Amino acid sequence: MARFFGAVVDWQRQYGRHGLPWQGTREPYRVWLSEIMLQQTQVATVLTYYPRFLQRFPDVQSLSAAPVDEVLALWSGLGYYSRARNLHRCAQVVVEVHGGLFPENAQALQALPGIGASTAAAIAAFCFGERISILDGNVRRVISRLLAFEGDLAEAAQQRQLWNAAQALLPPAPAPAEMVAYTQGLMDLGASLCARSRPRCGVCPVESLCAAQAQGRPQAYPVRTRKLQRRAEDWWMLVWRRPDGALWLAQRPVRGIWSGLHAFAVFGSREDLLRAVTDQGGREGAVLEHPVLRHSLTHRELFLHLVEGLWPHAADPVMGPDEAGCWVGRVDGLTMGIPAPLRAWLERRFDPA
Ligand code: ADE
Repeated sequence: MARFFGAVVDWQRQYGRHGLPWQGTREPYRVWLSEIMLQQTQVATVLTYYPRFLQRFPDVQSLSAAPVDEVLALWSGLGYYSRARNLHRCAQVVVEVHGGLFPENAQALQALPGIGASTAAAIAAFCFGERISILDGNVRRVISRLLAFEGDLAEAAQQRQLWNAAQALLPPAPAPAEMVAYTQGLMDLGASLCARSRPRCGVCPVESLCAAQAQGRPQAYPVRTRKLQRRAEDWWMLVWRRPDGALWLAQRPVRGIWSGLHAFAVFGSREDLLRAVTDQGGREGAVLEHPVLRHSLTHRELFLHLVEGLWPHAADPVMGPDEAGCWVGRVDGLTMGIPAPLRAWLERRFDPA
């Protein structure tokens, strides 16, 4: 297996991805930002967000000093907003605890908010050439196939074992530039040839080393018993409209889905929503029910039922002591975070094509 490392390095240099905006740098801030954005988001999407984000926040100091709402707004559309909150907190810790400099090894990086073990390893390998293996979802597939690893990756102990095996694939003293190419090469293999279904083993640089391919069943790996189940949920959302057409957005609670973003009030059923309409002085018979929006989160499939009612008062809706709300007439240019499906809906609502 000693040949694996060199084969991945050579393949990456010839066939891997080059010229991505976060590849030409060893600056930890830029690498960290890209790795957080890339955690659950496609490269093509990140390519549009990354430069915009860097333009507004060119360094860790400017990010740490910004209001979190502005960070969330720039993140709007990338999803998984806890990443943006952790990003902001991490920037503050780097500035306040580490004097504005990211720690220079994976172990210390992993102690920062939002940086898991694989992300810490990626930053340490890319920026400091540390001898450490990444193991994100794609790379788990590559390594478990290479080794025909039979352990069930739904179990933490088996994941640890696979990580030890991945670490053992590294040569004793790799050059930093090789660690960079190898780390990127693992990611690139996982994102291209070593696909979940129909892997292209015929052109894979490590086909002759791959135990799963020798067994003739690359798709049998990784072994994982627990399947991700998405629970379907109906969310009834009350959209108050003012006579001038403006709609009321209220800030979501700090805990739970879309925390801190601006959205419409949520009810568990149509009846509960209609009761809220009459309780607040609106007319149940005059509501407008919009077509259902469907939106997938990691663990849930949301069915969003937007029901619009005419706000019957001159004063604003009453909010709790720690809540904020506002009327919006358009959404472009707004600096607060709005969940992507609602932002898209609002854009269509205000500017029908
Ligand atoms: N996914 C996670 N990190 C990545 C990177 N540095 N390049 C491409 N895809 C990635």
